[in-house]
Amino acid sequence: MTRQRPLICPSILASDFARLGEEVAAIEQAGADWVHVDVMDGQFVPNLTIGPDVVKALRPHATIPFDVHLMCAPVDTWVEAFRTAGADWMTVHPESGPHLHRTLRRIRELGAKAGVALNPATPVEAVDWVLGDLDLILIMSVNPGFGGQSFLSSQLKKIERVRARLDAEGLSEVVLQVDGGVTAETARACLDAGATALVAGTAVFKGGPEAYARNISGLRS
Ligand code: DX5
Ligand code: ZN
Repeated sequence: MTRQRPLICPSILASDFARLGEEVAAIEQAGADWVHVDVMDGQFVPNLTIGPDVVKALRPHATIPFDVHLMCAPVDTWVEAFRTAGADWMTVHPESGPHLHRTLRRIRELGAKAGVALNPATPVEAVDWVLGDLDLILIMSVNPGFGGQSFLSSQLKKIERVRARLDAEGLSEVVLQVDGGVTAETARACLDAGATALVAGTAVFKGGPEAYARNISGLRS
């Protein structure tokens, strides 16, 4: 089976927050495809991270797409602000608002690409009726909230199931992304299961800027 080259999306959650602009520029230089930004509100998940002003400040430091993972509830109030700040892709959790379909439509109306994230306990069926309204499905291979957690191999079956569903529906262009505990070892299993994009924080930023290019290519092979 010929596999397409996976998109590598470093999560800046694992970067040096005192040098965020340089870190974003360094991962682009090292071959990253997207910048993954983890937005946490201290309510939907037990951690607090980055708001729209930080995304706006970082945007000029890279030309690759900004992939903003919104872990906040209610999420609808934030979508426009992140789009204005420079988000190209926005991914939401079905549990973070009452009307997933409306949220996805709004993201697309704003001119961004829309994604849905499935937590480890969230069934694949959560996207059944919005498959035509999304550009990306994110399989969470950890519970959201923190970087550096261990990969939940139970989620490989979910990746396979979503891959089969997308292919059966003729939606192979939908990005199938995996997030959490992705390392050179677990990356291979995700790609074998049908993922087309990998988010990685710890595995990309370990070792400092000199190691980023090597770390990124290690996830592709
Ligand atoms: C978890 C975040 C992930 C996380 C990945 O809530 O969505 O993007 O930063 O970090 P690692 O790769 O260290 O598991
Ligand atoms: Zn994420």
